[in-house]
Amino acid sequence: MLINWRGKWLSRHDQGMDAEISWEAEYRRGRYQGEPPVPFTDDILRAARSYGLTQGLYVGCGNGRNFLPLSRNGLTLTGLDISGTALAQLAASAPEFAGRLVHGDFSALAKDNTYDLVIGIQVFQHGDRATTGSVIAEAQRRLRPGGLFCLRVNAVSTDVWPAHEITEQAPDGGFTVRYLAGSKAGLIIHYFSAAELDALFSPPRFEPVLPPRIDQTWRQPLGAPGQWSQWEAIWRLSPPDPPL
Ligand SMILES: C[S@@+](CC[C@H](N)C(=O)[O-])C[C@H]1O[C@@H](n2cnc3c(N)ncnc32)[C@H](O)[C@@H]1O
Repeated sequence: MLINWRGKWLSRHDQGMDAEISWEAEYRRGRYQGEPPVPFTDDILRAARSYGLTQGLYVGCGNGRNFLPLSRNGLTLTGLDISGTALAQLAASAPEFAGRLVHGDFSALAKDNTYDLVIGIQVFQHGDRATTGSVIAEAQRRLRPGGLFCLRVNAVSTDVWPAHEITEQAPDGGFTVRYLAGSKAGLIIHYFSAAELDALFSPPRFEPVLPPRIDQTWRQPLGAPGQWSQWEAIWRLSPPDPPL
């Protein structure tokens, strides 16, 4: 058994390795240091500008490879992350944003805080289907009507690597794995299908601003086999009905 930052008991077998412990170790090893932002940040900035939105929440902001260019190009973001090490690294490299960082998950935010932009880049895939679905539902609850939900998550077309076991497979194609080796060993990670995203972000509540598309990264230059696919999408939460 281990205990996570909320003091909640987790069974390594039942829940998978605690994400906070895993990410703390990754950031101490230098994860993302010197890495460029993902090009999806340009889509986020373009969409935010076209709707005149600047204020938002970045869930799982990490040590800032995307948070910083988004913040330096017009967005005022709260950065939320369960890794204190990531946030300390971000604050050290950009002290001007230290006051906007919150350590924890959604429970660390005031219950009624809502935002014009909710951004999740490679974060809403932590856990099994039920867990990721409920975290996405909570993120949707944090979005104001007329706001933009910006999502980059694992896609089922990924060649999953390294060693892992499939723990869950849904009829719509979505599946979950538990990694058995590598930096994610012990973590439970979900892979989303197109149908699953369509159901989570369905009209009329959500309208696509950037319909889901695949961004594929070949691992070969890094000495590993196959490719890693991510969905990237932006949806707008329906604005309130105009007064009669
Ligand atoms: C794959 S990293 C991506 C970091 C950042 N979005 C980027 O692209 O550089 C996932 C991040 O999400 C954080 N994380 C995982 N689960 C979280 C949760 N429930 N709430 C907040 N942050 C979380 C991890 O600590 C980690 O920093």
